[in-house]
Amino acid sequence: MVVAIDGPAGAGKSTVAKAVAAALGFTYLDTGAMYRSVGLAAAERGVEPAQIAGEVTIELGERILLDGRDVTEAIRTPEASEGASRAAADPAVRRAMVAQQQRIVASGDWVAEGRDIGTVVAPEAAVKVFLTASAEERARRRAAQIGADVATVLAEQTIRDERDSTRAVDPLTVAADAVELDTTGLSLEDVVARVSALVADHR
Ligand code: C5P
Repeated sequence: MVVAIDGPAGAGKSTVAKAVAAALGFTYLDTGAMYRSVGLAAAERGVEPAQIAGEVTIELGERILLDGRDVTEAIRTPEASEGASRAAADPAVRRAMVAQQQRIVASGDWVAEGRDIGTVVAPEAAVKVFLTASAEERARRRAAQIGADVATVLAEQTIRDERDSTRAVDPLTVAADAVELDTTGLSLEDVVARVSALVADHR
């Protein structure tokens, strides 16, 4: 069974997806970490992401390993966020990542988070949630997480949102059968309870 959690940057997807996975005993899949790893590898090697997307080995778990090297922190910098968003706009990179993601969720129970889980990676997902929050709230949360200035995060987030929503391949869109959940002003417990209730309805 797949629970798809999509939405823009800073909507709380990671926190919610991890908590829902823990509550249900499902495995958590962070697809953003895959685009981040490809972007980082490309920047380090000075090549286009598409040239290496099919070659790099990305291991997802408590720590993120790129070709065996721990990049858990390195993929979270503002530069890596920008690199991920650029890499993710390339159709060849998306094809390689989506194929891997589909193999991963083919068996077992997953809470998968990203931008295109409900629309592309797992269109048959049992439960699809599209998480949103106001742009200001999203920037505030992200800034607090990484210890940065809210105005700077908001400016960078606006650029990434725009690129994610307008790219030609698999843009960030709400799946027709997704439940939209605006988390502005909601506690994590509230959101987790709502998503868990949606899953319970499908069991
Ligand atoms: O979710 P996260 O911020 O870690 O994702 C980093 C970038 O990867 C996003 O800005 C987005 O451009 C891209 N992404 C994507 N499709 C996904 C997951 C992430 O395009 N399923």
